[in-house]
Amino acid sequence: MRIAVAGGTGVVGHHAVEVARERGHEVVVLTRSAGADLTTGEGVADRLAGVTAVIDATNVRSQRRAAAEAFFAGVTRTLLTAGRDAGVGHHVVLSIVGIDDVDSGYYAGKRLQERVAAEGGVPWSVLRATQFHEFAQQALSFARLGRFSLVPRMLSQPVAAREVGAALVDLATGDAVGRAPDLAGPEVHQMVDLARRVAERDGRRVVPVRLPGRAGAAMRSGALLPRGDGPRGRITFDEWLASR
Ligand SMILES: NC(=O)c1ccc[n+]([C@@H]2O[C@H](COP(=O)([O-])OP(=O)(O)OC[C@H]3O[C@@H](n4cnc5c(N)ncnc54)[C@H](OP(=O)(O)O)[C@@H]3O)[C@@H](O)[C@H]2O)c1
Repeated sequence: MRIAVAGGTGVVGHHAVEVARERGHEVVVLTRSAGADLTTGEGVADRLAGVTAVIDATNVRSQRRAAAEAFFAGVTRTLLTAGRDAGVGHHVVLSIVGIDDVDSGYYAGKRLQERVAAEGGVPWSVLRATQFHEFAQQALSFARLGRFSLVPRMLSQPVAAREVGAALVDLATGDAVGRAPDLAGPEVHQMVDLARRVAERDGRRVVPVRLPGRAGAAMRSGALLPRGDGPRGRITFDEWLASR
């Protein structure tokens, strides 16, 4: 089938593209670098012709509530409007485990993205995943001072982005399920420890920070961990790090 992957060059999106192609699907990549801007809508409609399912793995690097809400709601509305016109039958969103319990600006954007998708008139699925193993690397660039990186203290049960990409393709090639069971990795870790392990290799130093307020306290005390049963990735952080 023909699948569109919005954000198909990103950390998780490129895995979804690879997995879908390995399984014999035709993939359309929707990114600005591929000529499709989901904020302006430019280059989107024609690329959705003949597409059966859309996977949204786009991202904005802003922690500001207004910017995150504008981006995620805007991208979702663009995809749904063009998708309805093109006869897309399934809209799949990648979201994050625990966003209801942590009131950050970025997570407000993800919550709005989920609501817009659910009300958009296209059959939908939302997969919430925990932080990727790759997040430990991404976290090193959130706030830098020379060779020091400020990394928030948070408990996480990270999962390999490759396994998240495969789960997104599994969903996209089946019927819409609404909210899917949360996907997490095999082990719970302190994110600062994981970031230090990545930083050692890059010659950087990690400075742990306690994010202020209730959101910071919730992240430190496990609000981003999965609750109950759900699919679990098998690749451990150690295995992922060794394979980098
Ligand atoms: N990182 C994690 O640990 C984690 C965990 C769970 C869920 N998630 C979710 O996973 C999603 C992807 O995160 P990621 O870290 O893989 O993202 P990423 O590496 O930052 O990649 C973002 C992608 O979005 C595309 N993009 C950005 N703005 C766009 C626009 N206006 N139009 C079209 N494409 C645009 C980028 O391509 P161009 O720049 O070429 O446009 C790129 O392909 C996010 O929604 C995030 O909330 C992340």
